[in-house]
This record gives sequence, structure tokens and C-alpha cells, in this order.
Amino acid sequence: MLIGFMGTGKSSVGRRLEQAIGCRRFDIDQMITKSLGMPIEQIFSALGEARFRAEESVALQSLNPETRAIIVTGGGIVLRPENAARLRELGTVVCLTADLPTLLARLARRSDRPLLRTENRAETVQALLREREPFYREAADLTIDTSSLSHDEVAQSIQDSLARAV
Ligand code: S3P
Repeated sequence: MLIGFMGTGKSSVGRRLEQAIGCRRFDIDQMITKSLGMPIEQIFSALGEARFRAEESVALQSLNPETRAIIVTGGGIVLRPENAARLRELGTVVCLTADLPTLLARLARRSDRPLLRTENRAETVQALLREREPFYREAADLTIDTSSLSHDEVAQSIQDSLARAV
């Protein structure tokens, strides 16, 4: 299970892990866009953030803890207490982090994240990070700073840590 702020590389690392480990990958954002039949931006604009958060919980609940899988979550999954509890039931929670300049550089490459459509993105990111960091810390079994690592290196580091843990 991968958690962490937008731009920490969860989706890309999840795909690398899927290839490396060869087990199924569930991406919560993709599950939601598929079930509602619209992109995330449209879900936020037409139905609102609260509905998106409710859908995140539904998607998490629908996953079976018995199924060996890589689960990729959206950056806000930790905000609902019931989700934090569910993450733990679903397996080892790995939190990806990155320093602020790295995050801003990565986030500048895409413009489809509704929460970042603000006048001052750096301020928005800092405020969201401040709010969320305690939740990420609380939920994580393992935290990896991805700032100076490639996606492959992050995936390898996760595999090494998990191998050591068993
Ligand atoms: C969000 C992160 C996004 C997506 C939605 C909300 C957030 O996922 O779920 O835009 O609240 O941090 P990524 O972390 O994959 O960008």
C-alpha cells in the first residue's frame, strides 16, 4: 500500500512494483474515475470534494485484505480516520515523501489536480503538507524520501525493506 502527498511518485512506483513483484495493482483514483465514469477534476467540480472522499472510502472497503496486491492511493486518503484504520487492515503501509522543491518541480508537470488550482501553488502545497504530515506519519509502517531517487530505486528500496521485515 502506497500513501503520500501528490507528486511523491506513488502511481509510477506502484507500476514498477507491479512489474517487479508480479502481483495485482489497485489504484484508488482509477477505481473511482471508473466507477463514476468521469475524471477526478470533474468529480471535484461537479460532485464536490466530500463526494470524492466518500468514494475513496468505498473503494478502500471494496478491497480484500486476503488478496496479495499493490494498492496505490490518492494523497488525501489519510484524511478520513476510517480510511487510516482500513489501510492498516489491508497490509504494510509505505509512505513516499519528497522535499518541497522536488514536489513543486514534479507537480508543475501536470495540471489535472483540482486541489492545486490556486494562485500560489507553493503556498497551497505547504499548507496541505502541514495539515497532512501528522496523518501520513501516523499511518505509515515505512517512510521513504524519494527526493533524490528514481522510481526504480524507490521500488527497489521498498522491496528490500519488506524483504528484511519478514
Ligand atoms: C488528492 C490527490 C490526488 C487525487 C485527488 C486528490 C489529494 O491523487 O486523489 O486529486 O487530496 O491529495 P495523487 O496523490 O495521486 O495526485
